[in-house]
Amino acid sequence: MQNLDTLLEQALSDLSRTTDPVELEQAKARYLGKGGAITELLKGLGKLDPDARREAGAAINRAKDAVESRLAERREAIQAAILERQLAEEALDVTLPGRGQETGGIHPVTRTLERVQAIFHSIGFSSVSGPEIETDFFNFTALNIPEDHPARAMHDTFYVDAEHLLRTHTSPIQIHYMMENAPPVKIIAPGRVYRVDSDATHSPMFHQLEILWVDEEVNFTHLKGVAADFLQRFFEKEDLKVRFRPSFFPFTEPSAEIDMGCVFCDGDGCRVCSHTGWLEVGGCGMVHPNVFAHVGYDAEKYLGFAFGMGLDRLAMLKYGVNDLRLFFSNDLRFLNQFN
Ligand code: FA5
Ligand code: MG
Repeated sequence: MQNLDTLLEQALSDLSRTTDPVELEQAKARYLGKGGAITELLKGLGKLDPDARREAGAAINRAKDAVESRLAERREAIQAAILERQLAEEALDVTLPGRGQETGGIHPVTRTLERVQAIFHSIGFSSVSGPEIETDFFNFTALNIPEDHPARAMHDTFYVDAEHLLRTHTSPIQIHYMMENAPPVKIIAPGRVYRVDSDATHSPMFHQLEILWVDEEVNFTHLKGVAADFLQRFFEKEDLKVRFRPSFFPFTEPSAEIDMGCVFCDGDGCRVCSHTGWLEVGGCGMVHPNVFAHVGYDAEKYLGFAFGMGLDRLAMLKYGVNDLRLFFSNDLRFLNQFN
């Protein structure tokens, strides 16, 4: 009992010196644990006579209380110190300049589409769209493409099942739109199309843009004017030469291919234009009366022109890209040049 004061003093100063939770628990065990010094004293009480036991018991319990409250104090202080250290370590200086953020770019085909749309919207056309999975009827029959037409052969078309296919051009969007809307019609319809086709200038998935204008007085002169004006604005070349070469499409009559002067050699002849000085950009013509019949338009009253262009081809010519596949291979070294 004479040692109790010394023991208490030592316990309190031991606890005060601890700086982390492990040391603290070890110190606690030395005094209050199973074999701890204060616990041992309490165990020894049984050997004393009742009076001495009461007195000693009270003194030991006071010492125990003192140790416990110092323990709680230390525990709190240590936790607070840990938190403070952690906050200091994780402090963030929000006034430092940021690290550069890499921003993505618009894909060249998307950029081309945006330019094309801006030009057509500026002369009163609106954009519409249609499904990529089509039926035979919309992709072929309604466009006056008969059963035995070569465009229906398996080698051109990806079939989904006996009735459905991936559209091979954007022309079926004309049919959807005219079935749902009475004339006049003044639309453009961009979209993905699919063909069993693959080389430097042909891709199994590519983009087309359909243009359709139907009204009472629309004629071939309007077609030539709109197409030429569009190409001159798109390529930013007022004197760009445009020519119309007789051709055939089942859904237009008369039909033509639209050629423009080669933008690489300015018409002198080079490898890109196969030394002809001309590049083909799309097909066109006056809407065939059979197409009007399929959508319920009066072919006696209405006339229309349509043309379809390859968007990826326009992008190639605009940006001087010589392989179509670059647009779809997701090579960042290529794509970053358009940022
Ligand atoms: C058509 O697809 C017609 N629907 C166009 C049309 C619309 C004519 C309205 C008359 C009236 P064509 O198969 O020629 O036509 O394709 C049109 C353009 O798509 C081509 O000039 C070319 O620029 C592009 N094209 C065709 N096949 C591919 C391909 N595999 N990869 C990339 N572009 C292609
Ligand atoms: Mg063609």
